[in-house]
This record gives sequence, C-alpha cells and structure tokens, in this order.
Amino acid sequence: MTTGTQSPMPAARRLEGRVAVVTGAARGIGRGIAARLAAEGAHVVVADIDAAGAAQVAAGLGGGALAVRVDIADAASVAALAAAVEARFGRCEILVNNAAILDALSVDAMTFETYRRVIDINQDGAIRVTLALLPLVRRGGQGRRILNIASIQGMRGARDSLAYATAKGAIVNFTRSLACDLADDGIVVNALAPGFIDTDMAQLPDGSGHEHETDWFRDIYLKYGRIPLRRAGLPDDIAGPAFFLCSDDARYVTGQILLVDGGVSATF
Ligand code: NAI
Repeated sequence: MTTGTQSPMPAARRLEGRVAVVTGAARGIGRGIAARLAAEGAHVVVADIDAAGAAQVAAGLGGGALAVRVDIADAASVAALAAAVEARFGRCEILVNNAAILDALSVDAMTFETYRRVIDINQDGAIRVTLALLPLVRRGGQGRRILNIASIQGMRGARDSLAYATAKGAIVNFTRSLACDLADDGIVVNALAPGFIDTDMAQLPDGSGHEHETDWFRDIYLKYGRIPLRRAGLPDDIAGPAFFLCSDDARYVTGQILLVDGGVSATF
C-alpha cells in the first residue's frame, strides 16, 4: 500500500504569533487542526462545549493555548468566547469553524425539532461564531483566514443525512459568499470538505464500533475502491490541508472548497 499515513514533515513555525480560534477542538478533526496550527507557532484557542476536553487539549499544546467552553448554538456563550479572545489577545488571525454534530436521520425519522437542532449547531453555529469574531479578525495582523469545515455531504446528497447534509451545503455557499464580502478586507475565506474520517463522529449509533469497521464499509469503500485510496482518513490527513488554507501560501485562494476525501468525489 503506497497511501499510508507517513508522518508529516516537522512544522516550520510558519504561523508564529498568530492567534487561531478552533471550535470543536477538544477531539477529532478539530484537535488535529489545533495541534498542527500550534506546532506552526500559533496561539490556539481551543473552543468546545466539552470544557474538560478543551482544557486537556490546550494543556498539551503549550504556546499560550487557551481553552474556552463554548456552545456555538448559544448566542451568549459565543459572545463570551469573543470576549475571552479579546481579553487575552485583542485580535484573531485565524478562525476555524469546525464544531458540528451528526444526526443520521432520514426524512421519515426526522422531526422539525431534530432538524432545527442540527441547523442551529452545524449551520447557524458557524455563522454565529463568524459574526461574533469578525471584529477581532478584522483587527488581526498578517494572514487573516476563516476556514469552515464542511463535508462531502455538503457537495452531494446523502441517504439518512437530511439535516446534516442541508447544513453542510449551506456552509459551502456561506463560504463562497463570505469570501466575496471579505475580499476587500484582505481576509481569505475557504472551506475544507472531509470524506470519511476516523473520529468519534463515525461511531455507530449502537456503540458497536466505527462505521469504517463494518463489513459493508470494507466491501463498498475499500474492496471495490469507492474510496480510491482504500482507507478512511485520520485527523492528521485533514490537519495538513487545513494548515495550507490557513497559511500565507493560500493568499490567492479564496471562496474555494477543498475536498479531502481519499478520492471519493473523483469516482461514481
Ligand atoms: P467529533 O464529534 O469527533 O468532534 C466534534 C467536536 O465538536 C467535539 O469536540 C464536540 O464536543 C464539539 N461540539 C459539538 N457540538 C458543539 C457545540 N454546540 N458547541 C461547541 N462545540 C461543540 O467530530 P469530527 O469528526 O472531529 O468532526 C469535525 C468536523 O468535521 C465537523 O464539522 C464534521 O461535520 C466534519 N466532518 C467530519 C467527518 C468525519 O467523517 N468524521 C466527515 C466530514 C466532515
């Protein structure tokens, strides 16, 4: 297998001194992105509804990392996040809107209330955080970036994922339109759309393990190559492309959706 998970090159501290807020960074993809940004020299704000998890991650990052408990579905909580970032740093160069939940409900199983809950976190939550932190991003120095974590489910329809896919589709066009609005401010806005990534979100609802460990996943996605690279991704596979979109090298990239999915979207 030539597509393994070799360690990335050591970080070169290309984000030295920049302030990066990452929502949902207590675990999974957000934690991977937070670790990479910190390794590149950023002061990372680990923002998550899981206060204990956020504190643990921040303690492991060093470099002036700050843990803040936030519920991105709650306006007062998001305002408190912005106030905490302002009090500690007075600015923010990088905002990564990563926090989300999975519903996995079909149209018949879904109620309007369960739909609204997913929209409130996955769609409105990212927008709420962006609006609250935008004044601090505008005040930032070199390399101001907003990165939204979308999904391949925001690019295509998906069975049993009505609310989640709807929210992620909105994040895709929020990204494009925000990029246009903020271009004159020199703020670059992009989204990253992961494929199947091995995190807690991929746990089966009955707790019997990861979706990626099931026979049907192995058959369709691995054996028959529906994922051309024939493995589920890891948070580190997302952290590198996320770092690129947050780096100076992405200065002429805006309003784009980068699919990081092992090639799923290249096949049919
Ligand atoms: P995860 O479930 O492992 O982590 C999500 C984090 O968000 C957790 O730390 C959780 O506490 C936090 N969170 C949840 N609700 C919150 C709220 N209301 N306020 C603040 N924090 C909250 O999920 P994972 O897999 O790391 O997902 C990260 C992002 O990547 C999400 O936007 C997800 O939709 C996206 N994604 C994940 C894929 C996967 O296969 N794991 C595939 C495509 C996209």
